[in-house]
Amino acid sequence: MPRDSTKHTFLVATILCLVCSLVVSGAAVGLRQKQQANKELDKKTNILSVAGLYREGDSVDEQWEKVTPRLIDLATGEPVDPQMIDPESYDQRKAASDPSMSVEIPAEHPLPGIKRRGKYAEVYEIYDGGRLDQVVLPIYGKGLWSTLWGFISLDSDFNTIRGLTFYEHGETPGLGGEVDNPDWKQQWKSKIAYDDSGDVQIEVVKGAAPQGSDSQVDGLSGATITARGVSALVQYWLGEDGFGPYLDRQRSNGGQDGQ
Ligand SMILES: Cc1cc2nc3c(=O)[nH]c(=O)nc-3n(C[C@H](O)[C@H](O)[C@H](O)COP(=O)(O)O)c2cc1C
Repeated sequence: MPRDSTKHTFLVATILCLVCSLVVSGAAVGLRQKQQANKELDKKTNILSVAGLYREGDSVDEQWEKVTPRLIDLATGEPVDPQMIDPESYDQRKAASDPSMSVEIPAEHPLPGIKRRGKYAEVYEIYDGGRLDQVVLPIYGKGLWSTLWGFISLDSDFNTIRGLTFYEHGETPGLGGEVDNPDWKQQWKSKIAYDDSGDVQIEVVKGAAPQGSDSQVDGLSGATITARGVSALVQYWLGEDGFGPYLDRQRSNGGQDGQ
């Protein structure tokens, strides 16, 4: 077959496509386990970081021994029987789009832009000398362009914030992406989540938070929509339709649910 014929060109292009698709699909399948392991490592690192426990260079698995993951029923705050749902395989994101595993988000406790949420959520309890020291909660909600996925850590008084971090979002770098700015994240530390009557008071304000405020965090300049989204999602997850029942339960039993 002459090399410059149409047939030859198509033959070469077809073989090239086949080889490339085999390489790409082979890599995708072969690396799936590694990707999964890296995702798990990243999640653990973020949880340890928001809890202020992450030490770079030390084994994450060793540091993770301090953390007790627990799957809870958001409606009651009670731990879910592992015989009923395997915490290892429960995926809160997938559950939100499965009608049998999710519930509608009520209008009176909105999570803007999100209609359903999984019935269950994994919480991460951190014990120190047998006493619950802090609890890390997964949080998510809409910003301007994307869903922001993160964690918030609460002290054993279930009121003082120890830290907040987002590990995945698609907000604009330099604008909404400033949610990753360490100085901004630092502001969340030691803020008080609830007022004296138990209502969520923590909020991100527009502009600078009043000096000395223990319940307000600075807005994000040029990114009011992202900032408003963060405020709303934190308020939702700390509220009655989010982790409220779990936190109430912990408060009433003095954090003795686990261990
Ligand atoms: C290219 C581009 C990217 C933007 N990215 C964001 C963003 O990530 N988050 C956000 O809240 N606003 C973003 N904005 C700005 C919003 O459109 C809106 O103007 C802003 O949230 C208003 O905030 P301000 O009142 O602090 O100026 C972006 C605007 C442009 C033009």
